[in-house]
Amino acid sequence: MIEVANRIAEVKEYYFSKKLDEIREMNSRGCDVLNLGIGSPDLPPAKQVTDKLVHSASQANTHAYQSYRSIPELRSAIANFYSRHYDVTLDSVTEVLPLLGSKEGVMYISMAFLNPGDTVLIPNPGYPAYKTAAEMMGANVVSFDLKEENNWFPDLENLDKNTLAAAKMMWVNYPNMPTGQRATKEIFEQLALFAQKHNILVVNDNPYSFILNDHPMSLLSVQGANENCLELNSMSKAFNMAGWRVGMVCGREEYVNAILRVKSNVDSGMFKPVQEASVEALNLPDSWFENVNLEYAQRRKLAERILDILGCSYDVKQSGMFMWAKIPVGRKSEEFIEEILQERFVFITPGTIFGSNGEGYIRISLCSNKEMFNAAIERLEMIKA
Ligand SMILES: Cc1ncc(COP(=O)(O)O)c(C=O)c1O
Repeated sequence: MIEVANRIAEVKEYYFSKKLDEIREMNSRGCDVLNLGIGSPDLPPAKQVTDKLVHSASQANTHAYQSYRSIPELRSAIANFYSRHYDVTLDSVTEVLPLLGSKEGVMYISMAFLNPGDTVLIPNPGYPAYKTAAEMMGANVVSFDLKEENNWFPDLENLDKNTLAAAKMMWVNYPNMPTGQRATKEIFEQLALFAQKHNILVVNDNPYSFILNDHPMSLLSVQGANENCLELNSMSKAFNMAGWRVGMVCGREEYVNAILRVKSNVDSGMFKPVQEASVEALNLPDSWFENVNLEYAQRRKLAERILDILGCSYDVKQSGMFMWAKIPVGRKSEEFIEEILQERFVFITPGTIFGSNGEGYIRISLCSNKEMFNAAIERLEMIKA
């Protein structure tokens, strides 16, 4: 047996990868589990987007390796999108880099900036990939608290002074997953100042700004953010293109170039039809988001019914494709969801997979159709009866 590298010795298999195996096994026993866990949009992309993909893939000249920086049309479409929706001006040649998904981007950014022993600040609760990417780099991971009483914002004033002096990078994510907290201009301004003052690279991971959110915002829109801030964005959620693997990183030229140095040595560019279809998606009119959100708003109502049945409390003004909710006092998240899974065959995500501050919370995904929500409501109402 050959031993695995030290960098993955502590890294566990992704929670969902294991849980989905378990659910598959339950289904093979005839359990018919209703999965309200995973945040993979079930709705299709716009028709003109898939039409473009098919047309482009049928051409003879679209199958070669592509430029590491992607086609200029895609970079321009991203820059225009940032200008139109976030009021951010980006140079499409130097400040925009398309990526094969933003999860992959988390790894590329970590590889570009973290040396072993460097300190990286990650949110608790937060998207698990920030921590695992940092751990794989041998970085020193320090989590900062997001608490309901502070609107799930970091308490920047009270971060430990020694940690701040050592920190090189910080991950933030607004609108926030899993808590659904939206960004505010004030918190983005504070973060941009914080990045300058402490010389820390602050990266906002922003895949959810178009879901159930009237005011999409970018960290790059505030003053000073062009110095030490980057933003990751994604086509996965806003355009129902999760499986296509299209993301982007935007910001200062020197930082983007550092990420390109990693990327160009790891991947070999994005399939051209995917790039051309992504341009089509980025140019969709606002009515695209309005229609998608109509559906999510209806699902959110059904998710609220489920949470009411389960005796949970929640904020109705959450953004993103999840409902984050507090479970009844005295219950533990994992035993709470396990009971529902084993007794009612409904899977809901425990808050603890996002960090210790997720204890006492659960997360319901809005990525299932209304029939599935109604079926879950029926099953769960039987608990109450
Ligand atoms: C906060 C956050 N960032 C990034 C991602 C990854 O998105 P992508 O599909 O672009 O890799 C997810 C997906 O679940 C997410 O929740």
